[in-house]
Amino acid sequence: MTVKRALEAELEPIEKASIDELRDLQLSRLKWSLDHAYENSPLYREKFDLAGILPDDLKSLDDLARFPLANKDDLRQFYPFGALAAPMTDVVRIHASSGTTGKPTVVGYTQSDIDVWSTVMARSIRAAGGRRDDLIHVSYGYGLFTGGLGAHFGVEKLGATVIPMSGGQTEKQVQLINDFKPSIIMVTPTYCLNIADAFEAAGLDPRQSSLKVGIFGAEPWTESMRENIETRFDFDAVDIYGLSEVIGPGVAQECIETKDGLTLWEDHFYPEIIDSETGEVLPDGQAGELVLTSLTKQASPVIRYRTRDLTRLLPGTARPMRRMAKVTGRNDDMMIVRGVNVFPSQIEEKVLAQALLSPHYQIELTRAGNLDDLTVHVELKPTAGSDSPSADVSAALAHDIKAHIGVTAEVIVHGEGGVPRSQGKAQRVIDSR
Ligand code: DLL
Repeated sequence: MTVKRALEAELEPIEKASIDELRDLQLSRLKWSLDHAYENSPLYREKFDLAGILPDDLKSLDDLARFPLANKDDLRQFYPFGALAAPMTDVVRIHASSGTTGKPTVVGYTQSDIDVWSTVMARSIRAAGGRRDDLIHVSYGYGLFTGGLGAHFGVEKLGATVIPMSGGQTEKQVQLINDFKPSIIMVTPTYCLNIADAFEAAGLDPRQSSLKVGIFGAEPWTESMRENIETRFDFDAVDIYGLSEVIGPGVAQECIETKDGLTLWEDHFYPEIIDSETGEVLPDGQAGELVLTSLTKQASPVIRYRTRDLTRLLPGTARPMRRMAKVTGRNDDMMIVRGVNVFPSQIEEKVLAQALLSPHYQIELTRAGNLDDLTVHVELKPTAGSDSPSADVSAALAHDIKAHIGVTAEVIVHGEGGVPRSQGKAQRVIDSR
């Protein structure tokens, strides 16, 4: 399949700027952002004062490393609106992160913040191959979650046509894709699998659909998953990254012409990679935890926000701005099973390598005495047939996991529909300990 390359003329000037120009812009914006956060947000005033540092102490981009790190708990302490750096009269929208436990984190947007967000989302969709003549089906959830509305405003800003479907009503998703013939879908990768199943259940071939590109994010997904979904739909799947605390989707986007990791929109979000244990800044290329600083946000600025997401910074390819490698997982998603560190993405690679298994899986952690046990729930493909040897598949997967990840897993093979489906972000790990 060929997708129109991003034409030079269509890019914003900053997307083509030299690294020197970009660094100059970042430095002046960073000075503004530190000043703004210190002057207007009680959260950052308290943090900087405690650390004995002032915005004026920043003379170069590297000086950012001297400022304190912030995390979700810091934001929660000011729940709901205490950390806002703009008066409520200037705030035009609120979003909140789901937060599996406790209070959600609340994020405010001024009109200028919404404009910046729409701009980086429009830029992201364009980098994914989207143009004004595209019809774009948005299956990210609308509401407090940033996926739906973030995508929606980006499509409109680009001048393309948005179909604001939101998540859920899977059969209706199929009907609308079939009838409206969108060229692009924006959805979590796991919900897209669910939609693919519903296509087949309706006797339709996803490969024959009008979709040419899928813009997938909001959860980790591996290269094997990319291959799986691309084959199933015969389209290009590209990665989009973001988080509510920083703005929502549109912090970084994979360019369709290279599909080699996500270009980080560095003119608005300044990235650092740290060692999660020591907090020390690591050089580009080394894997660690992504830390982001907003350069232009008004209502909810973030200074050195720890994302918990594990990745690496790489030099630019399709654009001069740096890329981040596909996120391999969150440092708080790491499971320690009998002394072995395991990420769900490692299990995903192994499940997808089994030809008879569908890409739906869930991991369960249980405790027997003092020891942790790991169970992987998987499903046979509908095409595997009812007499397929599930004991063999189970043994093969358990063997592969032991041999390559180093952990003993019990594998339970279910029939079709036996593993819970996602309508948004999949819950990969059930911790029953
Ligand atoms: O998930 C924003 C979003 C919506 C991004 C739609 C992309 C598409 P939160 O609900 O705050 O915001 O969750 C943010 O999701 O810290 C990552 O752990 C994870 N995440 C988001 N995008 C990706 C991705 C939205 N492309 C958290 N790859 C982040 C891996 C991702 N993980």
